[in-house]
Amino acid sequence: MAILVTGGAGFIGSHTVVELLENGREVIILDDFSNSNPKTLDAIKKITGKDFKFYQMNYLNKENLEKVFEENSIDSVINFAGFKAVGESTQKPIEYYINNVSGALILLDTMKKYGVKKFVFSSSATVYGDPETIPITENCKTGGTTNPYGTTKLFIEQILKDTYSSDNTWDIAILRYFNPVGSHSSGLIGEEPKGRPNNLMPYIARVAAGVLDELSIFGNDYNTPDGTGVRDYIHVVDLAKGHIKALEKLDREKTGLYIYNLGTGIGYSVLDMVKAFEKATGKKVKYKIVDRRPGDIAMCYADPRKAREELGWRAELTIEDMCKDAWNYIEKNS
Ligand code: WQD
Repeated sequence: MAILVTGGAGFIGSHTVVELLENGREVIILDDFSNSNPKTLDAIKKITGKDFKFYQMNYLNKENLEKVFEENSIDSVINFAGFKAVGESTQKPIEYYINNVSGALILLDTMKKYGVKKFVFSSSATVYGDPETIPITENCKTGGTTNPYGTTKLFIEQILKDTYSSDNTWDIAILRYFNPVGSHSSGLIGEEPKGRPNNLMPYIARVAAGVLDELSIFGNDYNTPDGTGVRDYIHVVDLAKGHIKALEKLDREKTGLYIYNLGTGIGYSVLDMVKAFEKATGKKVKYKIVDRRPGDIAMCYADPRKAREELGWRAELTIEDMCKDAWNYIEKNS
């Protein structure tokens, strides 16, 4: 029985496919390369020595999606497919709602048609909006999202809750990611944002590599220890391993709807990240302080106890590992 991984050639998807294959799972990747690179597929094979089926297609095409279910014996689905740039989502809300929300609806409707009800959803800490309490537990209020990207995640979470309420034979895990960074230690797969990076770590790494001139730090007047934004950065390999643990939970439980924060529980500021990167790599990161970025919040980091207690999962890689692996990827691929 195979696991269908939509967006499996992407940053988090590819790292999760590596862990799935290394755990002996049969994988089918579905990807349209709208935000990923075909070379990632060969890299996954090189890292794992394993093969997998691949369909180049957009999951919005219901006819093609049904063919995937017709042609394969699928046990479960992990849905990574989706646009994920916060800033871009404010410019292109309709595209984000079509791709992320309609895509998820078509996927769930097709799963229902073929009796596949085991589903892992790639959600995000953005569903907490500006969190009312820190560190954030899964019981914290969601809503008040500050951008369409985060709102698509909120909508899909609600769709999953309504789906489970209507039919409790579904077996669903909602994983709320904090800030995924770093790369597989091989340097063969990593974060490849198209164009100028929105996110901090890929930007820092490209400044260190001389690809970009200097980092703009979006505000140093937040109510945080050094005035710059604080986030819970988690190594993408730790995040990928969280998906294995979530699947094992669904295998054990057979039905249910489970929500987990996947974070380290440690908050680092932007200046902390700059210093950590310089220390870990020996590279200088030039920066300047500029105005705040609209939609940014001051602080966001997880209380990861629930995932530890119920999944037996915890992040193990350090901020130094994250910086070293992010740098290793840039060195090997730029
Ligand atoms: C982190 C910190 C910025 C860039 C978003 C999404 C989240 C997830 C990760 C998909 C903030 C500061 C950043 C820069 C800066 N996306 N920063 N200069 O906004 O916390 O989260 O990306 O999974 O869902 O919401 O991440 O890396 O953009 O910003 O000063 O050039 O770095 O202000 O404090 P964010 P980020």
